[in-house]
Amino acid sequence: MNILVTGGLGFIGSNFILKTLSKFQEYTITNIDACLPGSNFRNLENIQDDYRYNFIKGNITDPKLMDKLISEHDIIINFAAESHVDRSISNPRPFFDTNIFGVCTILESVKKFNKKLIQISTDEVFGSLEQGSANEQSLLNPSSPYSSSKASAELIGNSYHITYNLDIIITRCTNNFGPRQFPEKLIPKVILLAEQNKKIPIYGSGANIRDWIFVDDHCEAIHNVLLNGKSGKSYNISAENEIDNITIVKKILSLMNKSEDLIEFVEDRPGHDFRYSLDSSKLRTELQWVQKTNFEEGLKKTVNWYMSNQQWCKDLDRNYEGNIPWKNKSQIINNKK
Ligand code: DAU
Repeated sequence: MNILVTGGLGFIGSNFILKTLSKFQEYTITNIDACLPGSNFRNLENIQDDYRYNFIKGNITDPKLMDKLISEHDIIINFAAESHVDRSISNPRPFFDTNIFGVCTILESVKKFNKKLIQISTDEVFGSLEQGSANEQSLLNPSSPYSSSKASAELIGNSYHITYNLDIIITRCTNNFGPRQFPEKLIPKVILLAEQNKKIPIYGSGANIRDWIFVDDHCEAIHNVLLNGKSGKSYNISAENEIDNITIVKKILSLMNKSEDLIEFVEDRPGHDFRYSLDSSKLRTELQWVQKTNFEEGLKKTVNWYMSNQQWCKDLDRNYEGNIPWKNKSQIINNKK
């Protein structure tokens, strides 16, 4: 199989490429990445010389480039996205450009050359849930510029399946964690700040709940979808592992032997979704997926990876040090834990 991966220098895309090439010897992968925030060449430096891997710098909003690349591949897996909710609050436009217009560009090429597309989406499209879990029939109800851009892409993709009978599958995953995640996201940010004994900003009370999955388990679920997923369907991917933020932060501090005094409660993220939860029984029963890594084990692996890859962290060219984009740092509200 000849796969076009978009956004493969990012966290999930790069883990997917590494896992796919080591599991399927006969597959070849072209990775097109725009080298925007979150992309990192070092993520794939170990496979640069693998003849089955090819890299192209480019943007999914470029119709000519997408026509050329999509015409040359059997299947497209679209990981390319602006993905950080905080950044979507301070500057939404790039999210609409990449996550909506980029997907429209891909869809037009997929239509022209009649190829298969797997669109990587997120549990955030269902918005905050007071109770229960979202399944594949639940209504989309996004709250942030980021999640609304991902929900828009899903709706447009679905319309291309219905109208043009295109082979499109959507996967939605919960919060990923693991090696190579850009430290604007909660878990790597906490690890790197704690390592430097710097304050760790917790938005609001820290009671918000996310549903966490180790990145390798997400990538294996995409393999199941790639091999056996049905056209026009969507699949929720979740390890069904809901934890509140403050518990995660305390677990990381304990693994690193750091004091909880580093925790600093700050003004909440505007529109902060309280709880996400996905029902992944369809993936488990129809595609026989099971997760392999439990949360504690994955968290240990992740902390160890960041501690043994200090150079990767030092080479990052963007500042992640406790940025709270919608306020300046003096807006710390209290220090209770
Ligand atoms: O649910 C899947 C989504 O998970 C993905 O679609 C998004 O691309 C990804 O960014 C992630 O969104 P979250 O907003 O849940 O992830 P983040 O790591 O930014 O935040 C996790 C929780 O931690 C959230 O409740 C906000 C809180 N938080 C985050 C940061 C960065 C803090 O309290 N302090 C922080 O400094």
